[in-house]
Amino acid sequence: MCGIIGYIGNREATDVLIDGLKRLEYRGYDSAGIAVLNGHGIEVERAEGKLSHLEAKIHKHKPKGHIGIGHTRWATHGVPSERNAHPHHVEDVVVVHNGIIENYSQLRKELIQKGCHFKSETDTEIFCHLINEELKKTKEIQKAIANALKKVRGAYAIVVLYAKEPHKLYVAKLGSPLVLGFGKKENFVASDVPALLPYTREVAYLEDGEFAVVSDGSLNVVDSHGHPVTKKKTHIAWDALMAEKGGYKHFMLKEIFEQPRVVEQTIMGRIQLGSTQLTLEGIPKLFGATGFPFKQVAILACGTSWHAGMVAKYWFEQLARVPTTVHLASEFRYANPLIDSKTLVISISQSGETADTLAATQLAKQKKAKVLAICNVLGSSLTRASNATLYTHAGPEIGVASTKAFVSQMTVLYLLTLEMASRKKIMSKEELLTKMEEIRKLPQNLETVLQKADAIKKIAKECVNASHFLFIARGLQYPVALEGALKLKEISYVHAEGFAAGELKHGPIALVDKGVPVVALIPPSETYEKILSNVEEVKARGAFVIAVGEKGDEELEEKADAVIGLPKTVYSLTPILYAVPLQLFAYYIADFKGTDVDQPRNLAKSVTVE
Ligand code: G6P
Repeated sequence: MCGIIGYIGNREATDVLIDGLKRLEYRGYDSAGIAVLNGHGIEVERAEGKLSHLEAKIHKHKPKGHIGIGHTRWATHGVPSERNAHPHHVEDVVVVHNGIIENYSQLRKELIQKGCHFKSETDTEIFCHLINEELKKTKEIQKAIANALKKVRGAYAIVVLYAKEPHKLYVAKLGSPLVLGFGKKENFVASDVPALLPYTREVAYLEDGEFAVVSDGSLNVVDSHGHPVTKKKTHIAWDALMAEKGGYKHFMLKEIFEQPRVVEQTIMGRIQLGSTQLTLEGIPKLFGATGFPFKQVAILACGTSWHAGMVAKYWFEQLARVPTTVHLASEFRYANPLIDSKTLVISISQSGETADTLAATQLAKQKKAKVLAICNVLGSSLTRASNATLYTHAGPEIGVASTKAFVSQMTVLYLLTLEMASRKKIMSKEELLTKMEEIRKLPQNLETVLQKADAIKKIAKECVNASHFLFIARGLQYPVALEGALKLKEISYVHAEGFAAGELKHGPIALVDKGVPVVALIPPSETYEKILSNVEEVKARGAFVIAVGEKGDEELEEKADAVIGLPKTVYSLTPILYAVPLQLFAYYIADFKGTDVDQPRNLAKSVTVE
């Protein structure tokens, strides 16, 4: 939430800042701004709306200088407007901030009493005034910032530019992510790695409480007690191209089409042909050499990652017989959860920076649970807070609506299921081998699903004017139905809900009227006939039924108005295949409607505030 970039070096800072903000725009896009030190003073440019508005504004008059900071905003305090856009500037101090200052009303009152004049409604401007107040007591900017930070409560990642020290950036973080980028005679700071990829792949993550002073030749970090810290560099394997659209109209579409390759990456090195042995990094250390040492699993996540967790619950319980609960991270924190040292907590997060998931993970650790992260971003906060991490290896996901991350999370969770089942010796060697063989076929099967894109586009066109959509499924497919509805809501702004099909009669069927599209997920399973009856029920009330099932299923062809036939696989793996047509369906509806698919209104990719 909110993207921050800072640069110092020989390049034109404005170019680096704008380029970096473009790559961070998925984090927030209701206003943007930059501040550059131009040799004479501070130049600040800000604009309401997307980054393109800022670009248009500075087109004729580009701030010139070699040090600067930039920000793309997702509003928390104060409406999206130019005056609330970052950077905020008071006297010689300029600040960009990501996070929320919880005691901001109190601090603001105190500062106003001291005579400070506020130009915006943001919590961020507090920092500028606090630092200036501290500068009245000490001449040292670093000390002034550190003292100011002691007064705020909440989460922050901030970068400060001080006109009187024009060769340094001052950086601090607590709760919100910040990554330092190491260049040659230039250095960087950003909220997330994609902003740095065109310039450097050597990065280090700032930890909570750390403070960095960044110049073109050095990156000096101290901990919360002022002791120097030597940061360990991480080499990022992603390249800048991976974070670009590559000819697709939207990142979301590109990411949907990447899924066969993503799954290949996710399983690579983890399963071997003809062997039941899985290689899951960190698991032997966490679980021990043999056996499964936990009584239960508790899964923590938000949004789409939560849906992956719900699918995993079915797998863990039905295939590995491990009692599993799935929690929305935001609820878990206030639920006095029943977990202990015999609980394996699995925190799932694409970004590894979701504030609620991080806080829930901390709580789980306080309760002595062991934490396994399922995460896409190397070195992110979640991975650092966990006992072990299984990376999803999906590559950078830029579209705000998560697609490939979801499929890769499910793939990892399925591998983990087999690992648990194998350790508990409740799955025969033959069954393990069959399932692994089917996993190996997933990339090819996903390719086949993607070949349905044009057919799905046609179905989407038929439904584009509908204002309600229902997604129904049973068992393992129920979370996929929820995810299908979420995708549609997120990017096309229509009302969509997912239901366990058996619940239809307890209320939701009242929503069914002539022409209401009902998407039914019907792979062959023990509940196949039950859900077909549900299809009959909605059809009898006028619904337009879109069935997603196995290719060649004649019964579906007969009963549904449209059918999306998918390749055959073992039932337990169907969520991974069935998620994809729903992503495409949501994508095409949104595209027909002309919404901003990659940056839907009011949303942000990385929710770093609670
Ligand atoms: C936001 C994103 C969703 C994502 C959720 C959790 O709401 O828009 O796509 O599923 O955060 O994010 P995480 O990074 O923790 O998976």
